[in-house]
Amino acid sequence: MAMMWSSASATAVTTLPTRPIPGSYGPPLVGPLKDRLDYFWFQGPETFFRSRMATHKSTVFRTNMPPTFPFFVGVDPRVVTVLDCTSFSALFDLEVVEKKNILIGDYMPSLSFTGDTRVVVYLDPSEPDHARVKSFCLELLRRGAKTWVSSFLSNLDVMLATIEQGIAKDGSAGLFGPLQKCIFAFLCKSIIGADPSVSPDVGENGFVMLDKWLALQLLPTVKVGAIPQPLEEILLHSFPLPFFLVSRDYRKLYEFVEKQGQEVVQRAETEHGLSKHDAINNILFVLGFNAFGGFSVFFPTLLTTIGRDKTGLREKLKDEVRRVMKSRGEKRPSFETVREMELVRSTVYEVLRLNPPVPLQYGRARTDFTLNSHDAAFKVEKGELLCGYQPLVMRDPAVFDDPETFAPERFMGSGKELLKYVFWSNGPETGTPTPANKQCAAKDYVVETACLLMAEIFYRYDEFVCADDAISVTKLDRATERE
Ligand code: HEM
Repeated sequence: MAMMWSSASATAVTTLPTRPIPGSYGPPLVGPLKDRLDYFWFQGPETFFRSRMATHKSTVFRTNMPPTFPFFVGVDPRVVTVLDCTSFSALFDLEVVEKKNILIGDYMPSLSFTGDTRVVVYLDPSEPDHARVKSFCLELLRRGAKTWVSSFLSNLDVMLATIEQGIAKDGSAGLFGPLQKCIFAFLCKSIIGADPSVSPDVGENGFVMLDKWLALQLLPTVKVGAIPQPLEEILLHSFPLPFFLVSRDYRKLYEFVEKQGQEVVQRAETEHGLSKHDAINNILFVLGFNAFGGFSVFFPTLLTTIGRDKTGLREKLKDEVRRVMKSRGEKRPSFETVREMELVRSTVYEVLRLNPPVPLQYGRARTDFTLNSHDAAFKVEKGELLCGYQPLVMRDPAVFDDPETFAPERFMGSGKELLKYVFWSNGPETGTPTPANKQCAAKDYVVETACLLMAEIFYRYDEFVCADDAISVTKLDRATERE
């Protein structure tokens, strides 16, 4: 079944039948409100998209996306969905889509959250600042590569020691807190060259400051489920959340980067032509939103998927990790070592396929163009907003066999061919982030770091088990012997 569709691109001229885009936006106010309540409350995101896809018998259709009504003034909720691999890839074609100010849809949180700088993710590559800041980010990563692995592993030591102690004391240990501390400290060290503990406040609470700052920006667009839904609708989804609640934290983090990250800030100024203020705001955003936010979503899913597995996957991972480590005579994994671990890598890709950490992507039509899905072509007008929901796109049955099943070996051997359809980084896994595109600057670092995490755990422990109903570890047995 899979791979049966033509490989025509999302926007190439084809002989596919042209269809009007199905679906409607409903009456003003009522249509957007109904869709919003379906999305957050009555259906939830996945059923919201699936049910409309079934009703319209199409992966491309019109619908409203929250946030909307009553206090999101000037936010236009109307979108055209792209829910299969072909139509979704229109979002990477920068000839036809513009990426200005649409990171999380037509709604853009107040610029106060980024110190009044329009940071890189909100810039379209046609804006000269995009290339300037993206080159700076790519260089930050290249330069930080030296410390990336060592600082990740040393902070992982601290995290694993905390978890071991927790299990010894209480029989299980929460994963999220120690993991976020580890991610924050390692990113500060490798991106800005600073150890957060030099500032007691940032060292102790920096990651919580970022959590609050992220939450205020994202909550209007996210289903939370922690409080009764009517309250969530009134308190979190009806108006933009204000910056002043985190302004003091932002100032502390800003000063931390200004002082402790002097060298990188200066490089942004002298080598990339950024003002000091824009440099610090961009560094904070990339560190706090892209990197810290991305890993905070991805790593818990990766660890719990592996730690809850009941198919014998952990034994296979352990065998591979120890075989490669032994053959290279190493005691700690490196990027080079994990490149030889095919099952570890394929497992990481499969977790990213089934749980893309950034689920929604947007693009605004730069011009009138023809959008192709697998089986039809649609006329899109200049200015319309395309919206892709990746969790469904990554389970496109025309591309992936048995798409709902977690198949850790999917991307091994000839399965590597499928990597061109893995889009978690806002581009194909076979692509390269450049100043001219919008692909995640750290695309390769994210995958390598996830492989390092797997390798370290399976080299060090004979058993690693997570609770089925909580983000916690219940078993972490030190290796008795390593072949
Ligand atoms: C698991 C971790 C991460 C995930 C899931 C992730 C995901 C993404 C996604 C989906 C985008 C595209 C956003 C859009 O335009 O729709 C993006 C952009 C970006 N990411 Fe990542 N990212 C991660 C880690 C990082 C790290 C560690 C860095 C740098 C240290 C980074 C730097 C960037 C930058 C600079 C962009 C903007 C690219 C541009 O505007 O051209 N990301 N990331």
